[in-house]
Amino acid sequence: MTRFDAVQVRALLGRSLLVTHDWSTDDLETLLSVAERFESLDRAGTRVPFLAGELAYAMFFDNSTRTKSAWAGAAARLGMHPIIVDGSSTQVSHGETAEETGAMLGMNAHALGVRHDLILGEGNTFMRDVQRGIDTYLAATNDPRSVPVVNLQCDIDHPTQALADLMWMREHFGGSVAGRRITMSWAYSPSYAKPLSVPQGVVSLLTRFGAHVTLAHPPGYELLDEPLAWAAEGAAASGGSFRITHDMDDGFAGAQAVYPKSWGPQTEMRERVAANQAGDTAAMREIEQRALARNAEHRSWICDERRMALTDDALYLHCLPADIGAEVTPAVMDRFRVAVGREANKKLYVIMALLATAKVRDLAAALDAAATAGGA
Ligand code: CP
Repeated sequence: MTRFDAVQVRALLGRSLLVTHDWSTDDLETLLSVAERFESLDRAGTRVPFLAGELAYAMFFDNSTRTKSAWAGAAARLGMHPIIVDGSSTQVSHGETAEETGAMLGMNAHALGVRHDLILGEGNTFMRDVQRGIDTYLAATNDPRSVPVVNLQCDIDHPTQALADLMWMREHFGGSVAGRRITMSWAYSPSYAKPLSVPQGVVSLLTRFGAHVTLAHPPGYELLDEPLAWAAEGAAASGGSFRITHDMDDGFAGAQAVYPKSWGPQTEMRERVAANQAGDTAAMREIEQRALARNAEHRSWICDERRMALTDDALYLHCLPADIGAEVTPAVMDRFRVAVGREANKKLYVIMALLATAKVRDLAAALDAAATAGGA
């Protein structure tokens, strides 16, 4: 059974998660311990309705399969009512500010998830404004509730994904990623110019836990400066390392885990900001076509059996959905189909841990009582 310090768990009361960089490594360790505990209780069939009757509201300004399902599954297991809405169907699309939206949702909800990942410079700022709107309203009305905001993917980070990836790799590697050689690689995609937040979230998190992280991408696919600086700082503090290569084979050579996925080229991702602000949909379409044409110059960046043979019997990871036949060959994906499913399933327990640590006053005792009652 996973053990954790009740005082450290209590220190997470009221916490929102907007980027993992905002949290200390100790706090992330505590959160993951709670997530592991929820997973073992869930697998034993133990019920944990610690937040019965509360409302877990989530807004998605982009598509999602896994994260919506993880949010709903986590909320339901905790006894909450999950509600998930399309962000574009809210009054945000009619000019309501993020702070106003936060106040209006926060006066009713008990936790708020947000995905806003498509435009650089917007998503994380939106979430911080939403949180300010909630907190200001609750303080002004002497409402003692805390309504944590959970980043379900923004332009900078995809924290529930990166934490789920870390949780899965720790299980795979017997408890720790320290000293492990892990490569986050760009891979070709013809489908759309994907956000930068998954690679940014992964490299900035894993480096804090002692991993030797390689980031591989073609020139022109640089990540944002801030998460790259976080990765370098994290590696220096943890005894891990961080390097960048522009050669996919070099990135795969000797790796013990590989995470090949696509993201958009930096020039076009930046051009999209101005076009979006101007509401110029024709320009947005033209920029997207140029991004895809640039991607197509790098079709050879695919995770195939030849590249997997360069690794040290690496675990294959993907946040999903993968472009099969472009990012990864069908043969590699078939070999790791259950593994990537298990990786995806960890997000459920990460979200349960985020909701429960933020909102259950004596969570450690509640978990112990549930385990005893459930015979786990
Ligand atoms: N990986 C991930 O976040 O999946 P969805 O986009 O389906 O939520």
